[in-house]
Amino acid sequence: MDPRERILVALDMTDVDSAKALAMTLSGHVGGIKLGKEFFTANGPAGVKAVTGGGQPLFLDLKFHDIPNTVAGAVRSAMALGPMILNVHASGGVAMMKAAAAAVAEAPNTSEGPRPLLIAVTVLTSLGDEDMPQIGVQGSAAEQVIRLAKLAEGAGLDGVVCSAHEIIAIRAACGPDFKLVVPGIRPTWAAKGDQKRVMTPAEAVKLGADYLVIGRPIAAAADPVGAAKRIGEELQGL
Ligand code: C5P
Repeated sequence: MDPRERILVALDMTDVDSAKALAMTLSGHVGGIKLGKEFFTANGPAGVKAVTGGGQPLFLDLKFHDIPNTVAGAVRSAMALGPMILNVHASGGVAMMKAAAAAVAEAPNTSEGPRPLLIAVTVLTSLGDEDMPQIGVQGSAAEQVIRLAKLAEGAGLDGVVCSAHEIIAIRAACGPDFKLVVPGIRPTWAAKGDQKRVMTPAEAVKLGADYLVIGRPIAAAADPVGAAKRIGEELQGL
């Protein structure tokens, strides 16, 4: 894989024109864009299509979590947007994840591209060990991450979203083909912002990250293309 293809830029904004302009500017310099709940709730499928019209691969980060039938329906609706990556919450359970995987598998590989990768969110990184008892989980957040990653793998999902600090343990538990999509990435030259436990792009890829979700270091840079190129160069040869 060309190292640039590992970079997915989080467009955390609600303005369609700004998101579209940034997506077009970055086209060819990154592997794709990530649009999430903030953008989708404000602009819907039409907004997503406006941004991806230029053909940018899309990580549609809507983290579905509902009864299996509803999640399968949501996945089918999301597939109409042609995403490269879709996600659900692993804590929705095996039946829910299997229903989502079946909905993805229904889609043929077409000239538009291969079927999307279906990945799971394990434990939100905003939760720590101290939050586990409150939500009825015994053990540490790290143990719960591994438990849910294995559950996702067993349900036929392609991978998980995880922190760079979880890469080694999940790789060991779920094998070399399980896709790891990793946010919380900061080049040494970028501001950390509100991210606390960050890792550089090169460190995360060396540990085994498949895709890097990078927002502000590129999207909020004075020169987004320059920032994307610099990260791409840092990933060369890894
Ligand atoms: O700007 P920054 O690089 O911090 O953006 C990271 C992106 O990844 C944001 O869209 C954020 O919501 C998302 N994310 C994260 N940590 C997670 C899961 C998703 O930062 N554990």
